[in-house]
Amino acid sequence: MKQIAIFASGAGSNASKIIDHFRSHADIKVSLVVCNKPGAGVLDIAQKEGIPTLILEKEAFFRGSAYLEELRENGVDFIVLAGFLWKIPSALVKAYPGRIINIHPALLPKYGGKGMYGRFVHEAVVEAKETETGITIHYVDELYDHGQVIFQERVPVTPEDTPGTVAQKVHWLEHQHFPKIIEAVVAADAPANAHPANAHQANAAKSSDSRRSTDVT
Ligand code: GRF
Repeated sequence: MKQIAIFASGAGSNASKIIDHFRSHADIKVSLVVCNKPGAGVLDIAQKEGIPTLILEKEAFFRGSAYLEELRENGVDFIVLAGFLWKIPSALVKAYPGRIINIHPALLPKYGGKGMYGRFVHEAVVEAKETETGITIHYVDELYDHGQVIFQERVPVTPEDTPGTVAQKVHWLEHQHFPKIIEAVVAADAPANAHPANAHQANAAKSSDSRRSTDVT
């Protein structure tokens, strides 16, 4: 069974769709909901579903362990960012190579980067009189909204659209596609040596081996 942790800071409508999608899945399970905002709607959703939650503290996340130990203890194989606003620390990106996925509510590379989230994205799209917008699902690297694109889908923007109506259209697209794309990415992950905790331990063993061989020579 591959286990997913959903990282979310907000209402959690995407988290809810993802949880629904995998509720009876034979091979993939949402095993943890991670949040940096006590009281966020996504925590209520997790609680109703009986999914364990983890509240992040900023200091520990950015200057500490990035909660790697907790993720390992929970057997987390993949991390899905669904409205999570903090940048992912490099320790986490390295521990989960190719196994952190984000959704962005625009057609990256347009309207991405620091400060481009939620209504700010849709306001910018309307302000620029774009004729289309959409969603981007991508791997996460150490820069905001930058990793390799996995999937994009478009939706028209009309002169009558407001940031609010654009947000509705984009949310609809997200709910249609995000769970299915997560399923495809997780299912395609090679089973051998797949557990990031193992990969991390293997890397640690490799680097201590190389230190040892450097010491000897
Ligand atoms: C989504 O629009 C997603 O693209 C962005 O944050 C929003 C989260 O919405 N990254 P919700 O909390 O899932 O409703």
